[in-house]
Amino acid sequence: MFMYNQAMLSVTRLQADLPILGLGQPLYFHQSIGSTNDRAAELAKQGSPHGTLVVAEEQTAGRGRAGRKWYSPANAALALSLVLRPKDLKPESMGALSALGALAVAEALGNEGVEAGIKWPNDVLVHDRKIAGVLVEISWEGDEAEFVILGIGVNVRPASIPSDDEVDFPVTCVEAVAKKHVDRHSLLLAVIEGVGRWSPQLGNNAMISAWNSRLAYLGKEVEVRMEGESVSGRVDGLTSGGCLLLVLKDGKRIEVAVGELHLRPVDRRSN
Ligand code: BTN
Repeated sequence: MFMYNQAMLSVTRLQADLPILGLGQPLYFHQSIGSTNDRAAELAKQGSPHGTLVVAEEQTAGRGRAGRKWYSPANAALALSLVLRPKDLKPESMGALSALGALAVAEALGNEGVEAGIKWPNDVLVHDRKIAGVLVEISWEGDEAEFVILGIGVNVRPASIPSDDEVDFPVTCVEAVAKKHVDRHSLLLAVIEGVGRWSPQLGNNAMISAWNSRLAYLGKEVEVRMEGESVSGRVDGLTSGGCLLLVLKDGKRIEVAVGELHLRPVDRRSN
């Protein structure tokens, strides 16, 4: 048996270690807020700089991808959003942008002895269960990205795990896997460090290869659902642009680009 430390995040402690690699200043810390992504977007619209970080102990209207809700009860998870203002964001870097947060979380979990994979494009999985999610939102000015909001939610303590009827994929949390108390400050700082380290390498070979090396379901049959259509195939890795390579039943190879889609292993289609 291990005891869970219910310590709350300390803004003073976070401030002492931030910024890291240009991220985390200014820091907006909220005990309770609707959604850190909404708050970060509001700040970005008011001109808040690259690296602005919004952290909340609790979200009352946390948002997931595809309009889903994201559960973030008090003192149990990590809920954070970064304002990024990447220069010359190219359309071909969009896939990599979506993997940025997942890669940072997966590597940060490694510090806690938790080996994580990435369900393409950006769900973080441990033992086939989702442990973290990433929501990337971009504000466009014509063809130019005015700013990007990188929202990251990590299930840290058991209390952060939503009930079965609230999720459409099995979930877990860091402490349940690590079987020890996990310091949320260190985890948060490690995530920020990862985002800061990979941002300048967005979409380059090193980043795609790091993403590829953590790709979940490699060699396995999956179903990808996109806008009413669905395609099944064997995962064959990533392209140099971060598209998912699938080998169909007839041997044809297709590339799936990051968009509004769901990926799940074929043997779990009923979930
Ligand atoms: C998903 O897997 O569907 C994405 C989940 C993203 C959740 C995070 S928690 C912090 C940030 N604020 C939000 O409202 N959502 C993201």
